[in-house]
Amino acid sequence: MAVRYDLHGEVAVLTLDNPPVNGMGLATRRELSAGLERALADAEVLAIVITGAGKLFSGGADIKEFGSDKAIAEPNLHSLIRQVEAATKPVVAAIHGSCMGGGLELSLACHYRVAAPGTQVALPEVKLGLLPGAGGTQRLPRVLYVETALNMIVSGEAVKSELLASLPGQKLFDQIVDGELVAGAAAFAAAKGREHAAGAALPRVRDLKARHANPDAYFQFVRNTVKAMAKHFPAPARCVDAVEAAVKRDIEAGLAYERELFMALMFTPESQALRHAFFAERAASRIADVPEDTPVRSVTRVGVVGAGTMGGGITMNFLNAGIPVTLLESKPEALERGVATIRRNYEAQVRKGKLKEDQYQQRLALLKTTLAYEDLRDADLIIEAVFEDMGVKEQVFRALDEVAKPGAILASNTSTLDLDRIAAFTKRPEDVVGLHFFSPANVMKLLEVVRGAQTAKDVLATVMQLAKKIRKTAVVSGVCDGFIGNRMIEQYARQAGFLLDEGCTPQQVDRAIEAFGFAMGPFRMGDLAGNDIGWAIRKRRAVEQPQLRYSKTADLLCERGRFGQKTGAGWYDYAPGRRDAIASPLVEEMVARHRAELGIAPRAIADDEIVHRLVYALVNEGARLLEEGIAGKASDIDMVYLTGYGFPLWRGGPMCYADGQGLFNVVQAMKAFARNPLDDAGFWTPAPLLARLAAEGRRFTA
Ligand code: NAI
Repeated sequence: MAVRYDLHGEVAVLTLDNPPVNGMGLATRRELSAGLERALADAEVLAIVITGAGKLFSGGADIKEFGSDKAIAEPNLHSLIRQVEAATKPVVAAIHGSCMGGGLELSLACHYRVAAPGTQVALPEVKLGLLPGAGGTQRLPRVLYVETALNMIVSGEAVKSELLASLPGQKLFDQIVDGELVAGAAAFAAAKGREHAAGAALPRVRDLKARHANPDAYFQFVRNTVKAMAKHFPAPARCVDAVEAAVKRDIEAGLAYERELFMALMFTPESQALRHAFFAERAASRIADVPEDTPVRSVTRVGVVGAGTMGGGITMNFLNAGIPVTLLESKPEALERGVATIRRNYEAQVRKGKLKEDQYQQRLALLKTTLAYEDLRDADLIIEAVFEDMGVKEQVFRALDEVAKPGAILASNTSTLDLDRIAAFTKRPEDVVGLHFFSPANVMKLLEVVRGAQTAKDVLATVMQLAKKIRKTAVVSGVCDGFIGNRMIEQYARQAGFLLDEGCTPQQVDRAIEAFGFAMGPFRMGDLAGNDIGWAIRKRRAVEQPQLRYSKTADLLCERGRFGQKTGAGWYDYAPGRRDAIASPLVEEMVARHRAELGIAPRAIADDEIVHRLVYALVNEGARLLEEGIAGKASDIDMVYLTGYGFPLWRGGPMCYADGQGLFNVVQAMKAFARNPLDDAGFWTPAPLLARLAAEGRRFTA
């Protein structure tokens, strides 16, 4: 049963009971519709209450149904809303917890709404690239001021019921019920039922007017603001159009227009990408062979080894979540430096008003420092973030194995080393896992969870749950060089180098990919992260895989000491103390000379070619990762790129983007790149999985 039917005296109470969020899927709609009919047909029933079971009223439409026959099957949300609105007995929505999207739209069709204090109300459709398509844009501005309603619709943010109830002249709620909600709502409904039986008319939101004193000027102003804020997203501007219709047209015309806009948005690539990202984030926390009810280990105290760039940031994540940390270093100076950086970061937040002084002090009080491994005895999780050197990692893991308590999770933040070798330094490889944070670790959302050959399932379940607590998006990766993110970015960087050899400047490549939507192009990124990191990796590769081709330009740059912002010069020049990238004549000359040495005549390369060579380099490597089982799902790869590498959200990640282009077309483009004698033909051999999916007309993502 998705909807319960109970009688409270003369009031029928219909309770949405469809965990976890009382979503308005087809079964719920059918049962609610049947419940309404039954209550209306029962002469003993004076009034009807619709409420939600559990923690909330309703999270809204079931977005899994979007685009499927179920979404339009009768009764769809529209017909259900019309049925409620046309009811001949008072219908009262009794709202608590949260009331979102379609749930709020349903309640706006009710004759009355009562709410429990602290209820969160929102129309969050815009966050999925949509607008409220079941009357929300037409009815909300009829009960709230147009400005209040529009702010909610365009931002998608939740507003508390008390705040809405306190706004004079705005009547989303008829009553805030302090005591037991259903009892209060039933009493309210019974009173309204009696008034109605005595001849009082039923108030309907559709009969109200949405008014604004100066609509033309107001909507023009809002349009300008929205345009500046939502450059790549069409939905906010369509929300404005729909609310304007609520002011300027009658309700039926407004509803029809809202529907038209909704359907158009539903098929935009932006909305498809946002919905993909929404599901991808949830899917990332599920691991195919780790059941959701796997018991987790308790983590109440964390140890961090190494107080450098990463160790400090990692520590802050746990302090921010209220989890005590013991930070270990090898030398007192390093420890002092690390703690000073943590303090400086917090103090900057206090100065900017993002953190209160007492919160800062509370967080700092959770931090202990030490030079002795014995002090990590009581830690439930210990994360190593020392130098990227197998010898040093070995020392650390052998020491941890000596002191850590049984069942403690031992994690490494290594970005390139073999986790299984690290695990083998201990007598408990099943307790070892990789936790690959991204820099700055207290800011970046992404956490790659590296699953070793022997990592225990409950260790994985524990760290996935912990990731949520410290507000990270965790994605599981198998063991390989670079894991998911860096293994793919290496192919992207190789293509960027070949583009220089063939005729591009660094700024042309960066501009093209930034116009595509990346937060930063490969060369600006290199300057920010430090070009010496890639240099060290290439030196290692030259020994391991001497046949692997690279453009030499990045090495030439490093040989000149141009490591990036930290040395004041890299692919670009930097004015002292500034981060703005200034095109460097010296680098252009260096690239041109190298090209001449290779005997290459430069050619003009179109932005489109630049973008597709870079992005398809990611896609092809992504396909290999899937095939090798390093990545569990294509959507995991997209999550890595959206949260860790600045891939444009409105394109949904590299695999989603490739699907949108059509995998057949992706393979055709790769074949064309392979015909370029200056590119690496082997590079463009489609990964077998990509070739197969393309031939079968299938996609990477669902
Ligand atoms: P870092 O050089 O800033 O910090 C390393 C710290 O470890 C230093 O403070 C050093 O004193 C300390 N240390 C060295 N040996 C130690 C030992 N035996 N016991 C205790 N402390 C010791 O290095 P960073 O950048 O923080 O990197 C640390 C790890 O994180 C490496 O494995 C690196 O690959 C990984 N990583 C680095 C990222 C970055 O962007 N910097 C990103 C993701 C991972």
